[in-house]
Amino acid sequence: MVPPSAVAPTAAPAGQPVGTPDAPAIKDPVKDTILTPRFYTTDFDAMAAMDLRPNEAELEAICEEFRKDYNRHHFVRNEEFVGAADKLDPETRKVFVEFLEQSCTSEFSGFLLYKELSRRIKEKNPLLAECFAHMARDEARHAGFLNKAMSDFGLQLDLGFLTANKAYTFFKPKFIFYATYLSEKIGYWRYIAIYRHLEKHPESKIFPIFNFFENWCQDENRHGDFFDALMKAQPDTVRGFTARLWCRFFLLAVFATMYVRDVARKEFYEALGLDAREYDKYVIDKTNETSARVFPVVLDVRNPRFWNGLERLVANNARLTAADESGAPGPLKTFRKLPYWVANGLQMAQLFLMKPIRSEEFQPAVR
Ligand SMILES: [Fe+2]
Ligand SMILES: [Fe+2]
Repeated sequence: MVPPSAVAPTAAPAGQPVGTPDAPAIKDPVKDTILTPRFYTTDFDAMAAMDLRPNEAELEAICEEFRKDYNRHHFVRNEEFVGAADKLDPETRKVFVEFLEQSCTSEFSGFLLYKELSRRIKEKNPLLAECFAHMARDEARHAGFLNKAMSDFGLQLDLGFLTANKAYTFFKPKFIFYATYLSEKIGYWRYIAIYRHLEKHPESKIFPIFNFFENWCQDENRHGDFFDALMKAQPDTVRGFTARLWCRFFLLAVFATMYVRDVARKEFYEALGLDAREYDKYVIDKTNETSARVFPVVLDVRNPRFWNGLERLVANNARLTAADESGAPGPLKTFRKLPYWVANGLQMAQLFLMKPIRSEEFQPAVR
């Protein structure tokens, strides 16, 4: 693997064709907002010094699974891709390209973090470094495959430019664990839900990339299991009062962000014959249930109050977008947006304060 700074613009993993016959244009990255995927960095020395002994056997077993590289031959484009992009109408094309871009950016964000971690802790923590290297391999493949699909639409993300220019958010290791665990598990449920839906409704399969989701999501599932095992090797990350507060915070932040973003992009889900709200409810419920295997608490997502709260965030977000697109001068725009920012803050606080569910009550069989 190459270090992030040397990633070629197309970042296509080895064995896949680079470039396209019609020389796709480099797409300008979307403006960063609270809803766009982030890039992360962390305390590498603390990661290197991490004692894995409390759960070393499980981590070793997971690493052995990674070594098998089950999807080594999976991400190979076939003839189904030829001409597939031309079959989409302009509106579907637009929302589909947005989906590809967002997915590619988050896969690539995982690649950068895992790659950098594996490189920086190699000497001091070889088992952890090897696991991260295998996961970086998978994410590079995922991002490359998505970027290649974008090139079918005559566009490509300049991943080298993103690497050098996007802002990096610093998280202490335990926050990296919560955030990446959730993003891997939610990624698993998102991909498998789409795959299973399209299995039943093949007429809604608007692009052949969805055929790849079943094996693909197994990568994400394994990555999530790795972070589960890692948190169990560092039991203080998922034990005690502070851990319970942070787990609630991360669950809420991840669920709310996804819900607001997906409802704002409901046209994409409609194109697949899905209702964005129903889809998100399913994904959130499943991810919440899965999280109870390792987090000490999870959210009461089956309570209607939870969904009402998320709906108010959606409404505020629509007003914020309208203010943004109003063409008003900067200060006036800010003035118009202020009440909705405040309302969002209060709404998030209310959701955060909802009584959580203790995981041992929710998932007694696995805890
Ligand atoms: Fe991935
Ligand atoms: Fe992943």
